[in-house]
Order: sequence, then structure tokens, then C-alpha cells
Amino acid sequence: MRILTGLQPSGKLHVGNYFGAMEPAVRLQDQGEAFYFIANYHAMNTVRNPDELRAYTREVAIDFLACGLDPDRVVFFLQSAVPEVNELAWILSTVCPVSQLEKAHSYKDKVAHGFSPSHGLFAYPVLMAADILLYDSNQVPVGKDQKQHLEITRDLAGKINEAFGEGTLVVPEPIIRESAAVVPGVDGQKMSKSYGNTLPLFADPAEVKKIIMKKLVTDATPLEDPKPKENSTLLALYRLMASEADVATMEADFDRGGIGYGDFKKRLLDAYLERFEPMRARREELLADPGYIDQVLAKGAEKARAAAAPVIDRVRRAVGLA
Ligand code: TYM
Repeated sequence: MRILTGLQPSGKLHVGNYFGAMEPAVRLQDQGEAFYFIANYHAMNTVRNPDELRAYTREVAIDFLACGLDPDRVVFFLQSAVPEVNELAWILSTVCPVSQLEKAHSYKDKVAHGFSPSHGLFAYPVLMAADILLYDSNQVPVGKDQKQHLEITRDLAGKINEAFGEGTLVVPEPIIRESAAVVPGVDGQKMSKSYGNTLPLFADPAEVKKIIMKKLVTDATPLEDPKPKENSTLLALYRLMASEADVATMEADFDRGGIGYGDFKKRLLDAYLERFEPMRARREELLADPGYIDQVLAKGAEKARAAAAPVIDRVRRAVGLA
């Protein structure tokens, strides 16, 4: 069983990335052969400054390790360490209908948010399919926003198998955790770097406090009244971070009334700080040892290349390139 997922180094990671993909990935790391990578080719669509791309790449790698990724179990590497992924993306692009990419939500969404519609942005799902298929991946833990990309991946693998022989590519399954499929941002929309509504995974506690106390949406229910639980962003975030018992207490306090949102927000802040404190401490250690992450990624690159080589070879033979 091979499990694979990727994170883009396009900015600071947020709790949506954590609960949607990183935490499930860490949980799955000892249930199969895990391949986790930093999607630096993909990030080039939005990060145009080379120093910034390098810095985010390093930071995301360190953050993933801090969250519990075990480099002795996981093949952890940079997407660009295996450039054959571009060759597979080209091969997939020859069977990919333009109409399928035109329907991609994330492409339409990015363009609607003002990103220029480059070919890289348009072809994003094809490169993502290549990421997955190059390693014969079986399971791909992701947030719900990636579901359509996984459908495109499955479809392209099916088209290649149909045209060039069953077994040319392995058809993967998405793993989407329902309880964290779409983590809401502080404005109630999906949490996303491009919407500026994130709760960062690692930020100065004072900054997180400001975001929770000042920016997190609540409704105008008076203090003394019961608070509506459904559609509460505050409660949705609390459910992800707090213990079951604390969540039950908060829900009962919502029903009872007499407690204001300021108080609930403090509880959310405490849950956040407690939940991420051990990872924050681990992150500080990793930041103090820059050689370590280089070593981890170099070892991962070697293993990733070794896993990709027979797959690209098989595909080259199947399509007539070798
Ligand atoms: P990226 O970096 O945008 O997001 C990384 C992961 O975080 C999940 N995620 C969320 N989950 C729940 N709620 C949210 N608000 C939320 N925001 C982000 C994303 O679903 C994702 O799983 N295309 C990928 C990167 C990638 C990839 C791959 C992933 C490139 N190639 C191959 C898997 C397999 C992405 O957008 O990452």
C-alpha cells in the first residue's frame, strides 16, 4: 500500500492544511509506504521570487517534520528532485481533454480571485496527476478541495491504461476525512492562503490571539441568549482542536446562554495553544539545525528517484518512447 500527498510551499501553512491533510498523513505514515513531498513546481504559479520560494520550501518542510512526519518511515522529498514528473505530466497531457481542465474548480476560483490564467495554472491538475501516478500511489490523503483533482487523476490513469494497456498506471483513491474536509477560515469561507482568512499553524501566539479575538466571525446573538451551534465557525474550529469533553462543555454552554463569544474565543485560543505547543517546540529545535532538513530531503530524493524510475520506464515502453 503506497500513500502519497503533497503540500505547496506557497505561503505559511494553516490549520486547514494541518487538519485536512497533514494530520491524516502523519496518522497514515506507518500504515504503508508513505511518500510525502513539497510541491515546489506547483508553487511557481503563485510565488515568483526565487528567494521566497526557497524560504517557503524550507519552512514547509520543517513544519511538516514538526507536525510529526517521521523521516525514517516516510520518503520525504521535493517535487523538483524528480524532474521525470514533468515527462509523465506531458504524457498525461496528450490524453487530457481541454474541456476537463476548463471545468476545474480550483482553476476557475484562482482566476476569479485575480490570478492571471497562465498555462501552468491551467495544467496544474495534470502535473498533480503525474505526482500521484509516478509513484504508483494507492491512497492520497487530501482536503475536499482536491477531490476534483483526484477525479481527474483517476480519469487520466484510466485513459492511459485503456490506450496503452491495463496496468500501465495504478489508479489511486482519495482519502478525505469528513470531519476536516473543509476547515473554515476566520471569515467562515473555506480557509485558504489566497483568501487571507487563515489561522496560521505556527505564528506568534500574540498574532493568533489577535486573529481569534478580532477577526473570527460570530453572530450578533446577545450575551444572555443561547448561541446557535450550526454554522458556527468558532465551534467548528474548536471541535477540531479541543478534547471531546471540552467540546461537550462548550456545546452545552452555547445551548445554555449567558456566556459571551469573547469567553468562547478565549477557550478556542487556549485549545489552539495547547494543541500546537509540542509541535512549536519541535519546530524551534529543527530551525536551530538547518543541516538536518537538508539531509532528510537528500535521502528522500534518492528514495523517490529509485521509486519513480521503474514507473517512468514502464510508461515509456508502453507509449512507445523506449
Ligand atoms: P495545498 O498546499 O494548497 O494544500 C495542502 C493540503 O491542505 C488541504 N487543505 C485543506 N483541507 C481542509 N480544509 C481547508 N480549508 C484546506 N485548505 C487546504 C488541501 O486539500 C491539501 O490536501 N494540489 C495540492 C498540492 C499537491 C498534491 C499533489 C496533493 C500537488 N500535487 C499530489 C496530493 C497529491 C494543494 O493544493 O496543496
